[in-house]
Parts: sequence; structure tokens; C-alpha cells
Amino acid sequence: MKIAAIVPAAGQGRRLKTRRLKALVSVLGRPLIVHTLRSLKRSFHFHEIIVIVPADRLEDFKNILKRHALGAVRVIPGGRTRAESVKNGVKNVSKVSQWILVHDAARPWVNKHLVHQLIRSAKKTGAATLAIAVTSTVKRVNANQQKIVRTEDRDSLVLTQTPQVFKKSQLIRRYQVLGPKALLATDEAALFDGSRIKVSVVPGDERNIKITTPQDVDLFKFYMGRK
Ligand code: CTP
Ligand code: MG
Repeated sequence: MKIAAIVPAAGQGRRLKTRRLKALVSVLGRPLIVHTLRSLKRSFHFHEIIVIVPADRLEDFKNILKRHALGAVRVIPGGRTRAESVKNGVKNVSKVSQWILVHDAARPWVNKHLVHQLIRSAKKTGAATLAIAVTSTVKRVNANQQKIVRTEDRDSLVLTQTPQVFKKSQLIRRYQVLGPKALLATDEAALFDGSRIKVSVVPGDERNIKITTPQDVDLFKFYMGRK
């Protein structure tokens, strides 16, 4: 089973409030993207790994990856949104890779157990995502988020994570069917909403956080310290 890993890393990381791009922020002595790529490489033997980066930073990323013995990773320009970035990655997957794994650069905790469970499930259904249970009570609010409209049934909700795995032909088909609407999706599993292909849900891990705020960096350091 030849799988291409696509790693969107073209975001600015505005909520992290640092000067550097989020993927290049140094955590425990190395850039976040290096943590994530190392974890990903350890988790499965991918046919190819493609990192999507801001178009004006291609050379910087190539040099940084080379310095960290990740020179074999391909570096490709992204778009204005995560969806655009991933779509550009998909276009660049080589012919022989029939499966695609998408994983956020901002989730350095990914590991072998999660990836293997996910791939096993995707093989059966064609599409699978990691997800964890919702533990808080979830409310729908009005447009300015100042009044509660109603309480959602959390038992029928999950929080998705990455990685997510898809059969390449089916993912490309969804891009064709949805056209420009595909660029509104905030994950690739969403491209299968309303499709006859049901994305299977595989238990994720609470520690597989998407580093978004400065507090998330502290949390990741804490988890690393306990490894
Ligand atoms: N991403 C991307 N291309 C974009 C926007 C985001 O490849 N145009 C990537 C990010 O680099 C990140 C992942 O998608 O690895 C998840 O996005 P998010 O956590 O929102 O990261 P940022 O967009 O960088 O952060 P923020 O929204 O706080 O600016
Ligand atoms: Mg973002």
C-alpha cells in the first residue's frame, strides 16, 4: 500500500502570537515542523512526504529540512487557506501513491499506533479520520455569540483530528464534485459530507493537540517531558 503523506504547514500561526511562522517556531530546540515530520516518519514508511509551505518561503523550508536530515521531504507552495494548501499537495502526489494521508504540521504528537489504526480502518472503507469524544457541553449560539440558542447532543458529536487517510481516487472525485465549495472545508473528511462514502472514525488521542495558542506549546513540552 503506497501512501503519500501531505503536511500542510503554510499557515501564519496568528493565534500563536509569535513573529515566526508557526511551523518554524522553535520548541525544545527544533522547529515545530521538524518534530512533526520526525514523528510522522517514525510512524509509517510513506512512499513520499510532501510539505506545503508559504510560497515565498520555499527555500527557507528546504534549507531547514536539509539541516535536520529531512532533505527527502518534498516542499511545495500552499494557498490562502488550509483547504487550498492541501488541494495543491494532492495535485503533486505521484501516480504510484494510491492513498493519501493528510496531517497538520501543527500536530507533533502523531505516532505509530494512531497511524496504523487509521490506515487499517481506511483500507476497509476508503476514508478514515482520528477523532476524540466531546467532553464539554456544546451550545449553539446566535451570530454575535452572545446568546445561547440551544444545547447540542454531545453523544452524537466528535472532535476530529489529523491524520486523516483517503483513497486518492475518491478524494480527487470529491474535489471534482464539490468544485470551489471544496475550498470552504476545514478538514478533508468534510469533503465527504453528503457523499455515499462514510468516513470512519478511529479513536484519536487527547495528546494529539493542534498547537494553536501559546498554552498549547506548554502542553506539548509537558507531554514530551513525560515520554
Ligand atoms: N495551513 C496551511 N495553509 C494555510 C493555512 C493553514 O497549510 N493557508 C496549515 C497550518 O500551517 C497548520 C494547519 O493548516 O499546520 C492547521 O491550521 P491552523 O492550526 O489554523 O494554523 P494557522 O492557520 O497557521 O494558525 P492561525 O489560524 O492561528 O493563523
Ligand atoms: Mg488557521
